[in-house]
Amino acid sequence: LIIIKNIAALQEIIAKQKSESKSIGFVPTMGALHLGHLTIIKKAAAECDFCVVSIFVNPTQFNNKEDFNRYPITIEKDIKLLEQVDCDLLFLPEVEEIYTSDFIMPKYEIGKINELMEGKFRPGHFQGVVQVVYRLFDIVKPDKAFFGLKDFQQLTIIKKMVQHFSFKIDIIPCETVRDDKGLALSSRNLLLNEVDKQKAYSLYQSLLEAKELCLDLSPNQVKQEIQQFYKNLELDLEYFEIIDSENFEILEEKWVKGAVACVVVKIGQIRLIDNMQIN
Ligand code: PAF
Repeated sequence: LIIIKNIAALQEIIAKQKSESKSIGFVPTMGALHLGHLTIIKKAAAECDFCVVSIFVNPTQFNNKEDFNRYPITIEKDIKLLEQVDCDLLFLPEVEEIYTSDFIMPKYEIGKINELMEGKFRPGHFQGVVQVVYRLFDIVKPDKAFFGLKDFQQLTIIKKMVQHFSFKIDIIPCETVRDDKGLALSSRNLLLNEVDKQKAYSLYQSLLEAKELCLDLSPNQVKQEIQQFYKNLELDLEYFEIIDSENFEILEEKWVKGAVACVVVKIGQIRLIDNMQIN
């Protein structure tokens, strides 16, 4: 595993790979790696000749300073894990390396998709994501970049951004990895104690429940049932929405093919996100 902190050194290695017609696969992460990341990295390594992973906890995408300050950092462990999968290069930049004074993100409007769910509840979050992913793509210039479906809205926004700037990068969606009780693996799970973890299983249960209810009820009715489900459990549901995965419209009366239920629950200070295609 080559570990590089500096853009010029990284680009030299990438240029050499490209001169040998090697394809570059890229997995951007914020570290605190878990099996979900490792599954994505293995996929990238299998599909591309040279696999680059970045670990960068991007300050500009945290609308909540507390969330940023408590974001888990486990770099030594991350490096050990990367050594066990077929990752060729870890890009580990400091903030000053990414946000140099000469870096200016071209103007980009995320559009209507930014007005709901994560965009609505975390103002400025997606502007930060788009900024850092644009920057990382411009530095790494991968052929393929791999993103988890757990952050479904993020994935959709990145696909649109890539199209807008005509980046020649294939965006590859990767299935959510769950533990044996269905909890979607996430770096934030590290912040849960045992009691909170039990509560966290409600996300997956509510999605399964929605999947079952959608056979008989309208999207609005399913939403009401799930809101009640969380009330009964006395859990802090931030939102539950059923969206059309094609255009990100919130479904109310009618079902469409590829409807996706999206949920965020706050357990103590920790926000957990999940989603599932339900029809
Ligand atoms: O999904 C994440 O971990 C982050 O949002 C990403 C894509 C690495 C950008 O910082």
